[in-house]
Amino acid sequence: MRWENLFLFYLGLNCVMTFSFAVDQCRSEVNEQEMALEGFVFKKILVPAPFMCDVECEKEITCQSYNYIVKENICELNNRTKEARPENFRRDPSRFYIRRLAGRVPLGSIPELPAQSCHEIRASEGRETKGNKYWIDQAGNGTARLGSCEESMRAWYNFTTLGATKRHGPDNSTGYRGTGCEGVQVKGGKQEWTVPFTGRFHLEACGASGGRGLSSAGGKGAKINGTVRLEKGVKLVILVGQRGSSRGSGHSGSGGGGTFVLYSPRMRPLLVAGGGGGGGSQNGHPGNDQVDGSGNGAGSNGEGGLLCGDPALAMHPDSGSGAGINGSGGCFKSASVQSGQLCMKTDCEKGGKSFIVGGEGGKADSADCHGGFGGGGACDGDGYPGGGGGYSGGGVDSSEGWSAGGGGGSFVENPTWIIIKGGCDEGDGYVSFTRDN
Ligand SMILES: *[C@@H]1O[C@H](CO)[C@@H](O)[C@H](O)[C@H]1NC(C)=O
Ligand SMILES: *[C@@H]1O[C@H](CO)[C@@H](O)[C@H](O)[C@H]1NC(C)=O
Ligand SMILES: *[C@@H]1O[C@H](CO)[C@@H](O)[C@H](O)[C@H]1NC(C)=O
Ligand SMILES: *[C@@H]1O[C@H](CO)[C@@H](O)[C@H](O)[C@H]1NC(C)=O
Ligand SMILES: *[C@@H]1O[C@H](CO)[C@@H](O)[C@H](O)[C@H]1NC(C)=O
Ligand SMILES: *[C@@H]1O[C@H](CO)[C@@H](O)[C@H](O)[C@H]1NC(C)=O
Repeated sequence: MRWENLFLFYLGLNCVMTFSFAVDQCRSEVNEQEMALEGFVFKKILVPAPFMCDVECEKEITCQSYNYIVKENICELNNRTKEARPENFRRDPSRFYIRRLAGRVPLGSIPELPAQSCHEIRASEGRETKGNKYWIDQAGNGTARLGSCEESMRAWYNFTTLGATKRHGPDNSTGYRGTGCEGVQVKGGKQEWTVPFTGRFHLEACGASGGRGLSSAGGKGAKINGTVRLEKGVKLVILVGQRGSSRGSGHSGSGGGGTFVLYSPRMRPLLVAGGGGGGGSQNGHPGNDQVDGSGNGAGSNGEGGLLCGDPALAMHPDSGSGAGINGSGGCFKSASVQSGQLCMKTDCEKGGKSFIVGGEGGKADSADCHGGFGGGGACDGDGYPGGGGGYSGGGVDSSEGWSAGGGGGSFVENPTWIIIKGGCDEGDGYVSFTRDN
């Protein structure tokens, strides 16, 4: 008789026996041909026949399942099941996979077999983890700690404007007292956070919205959703965008600030969520889902936005455009009289300041028209709105009889993250990191 046939015979016998003896103990498992669990093999053993793998697996407390290499008669003992790690369960024509038949300990129930997360325990054991304690090695460095899943679920960090308004950012972190963000350092309106432990985090970020306009709305900030693995001790510099100002009806609104997260000290961006443009006679444009801003005159490649007017019609937008990460916004100062819309930018205080020079909002003639911190452009108080800040700045779009602020651009380190153009609620920006359990 060939080994394979003997094995099938054995499996059949095993089930008959276990069903007829103790129903509680019956762990009839089906072997899955041409499949294997990758990455969790802790022991390989040469055996005379496949059923010997069951015997070898049952000798090891951490054995959860095994792969069998059919032509080589080798058992590969795994310390996970395919339920715990479905993403590692792959087609493999040379192997079959089977879960441990008897005596499998639940994942995380003993210190020798810690889980990496509560998510993994739920997947592996198919039950809720509430109220129980588990051995979890969150850092994946071999140090397991006994804890409840509810405790680690509470690990979330939400970075806000800390109550600051208008063109300057916060100067203290008292608003975080009693929260997980308490140790955050505030310098020049930017917040520095040291990641407290290694793990995967869900992140959600919003740019701020632009100020309301004549009878129009400010553009809403772009929203970013993603998952990131961060190492303990990594330092992030966070600038949370502040909403654009508005003087009330009959006037225009200033640009909203972008929300920025960069790795310190090299200042490589993790994400930037664009702020919305201020409302003019038309609604402000939303924070964009591209690195370039939205609307006419949008900045590109990290630069500030342009201002578009028509000098021949005496359309000189007197407001500021939004800033990008690298280049500030500016003003429209054209001596040339030409017909048709002209887009340009000259340095001025009304433009938002780029992230690298501080990120302040543009400075207006009156305080109620300052741009939002995070590079928002100032409004001029009458008809012209400011552009939003972002990875690239929003422009100011105007022509005969109408105007609208452009939205800032967005950037994500990982292209699988979702960016929703104008996906945020009206208000200030924020960025939150929630532990993925
Ligand atoms: C599981 O096995 C892998 C090797 O595949 C090993 O790196 C890891 O430490 C083992 N984990 C446990 C909890 O035994
Ligand atoms: C593993 O990481 C945890 C949490 O970061 C830490 O407390 C522990 O000291 C680390 N252990 C080793 C052996 O590095
Ligand atoms: C973070 O805080 C902002 C502002 O308070 C709030 O709008 C937002 O919903 C919070 N985000 C999360 C994920 O709790
Ligand atoms: C802390 O910052 C908030 C918001 O900007 C401000 O209102 C408050 O006065 C500041 N507190 C101190 C002690 O500086
Ligand atoms: C974004 O993340 C939040 C939680 O942080 C979640 O509630 C929401 O469904 C996510 N949205 C998308 C589109 O993934
Ligand atoms: C910002 O400008 C510097 C030079 O001033 C350049 O080296 C860098 O690539 C620019 N960054 C981006 C994101 O465009």
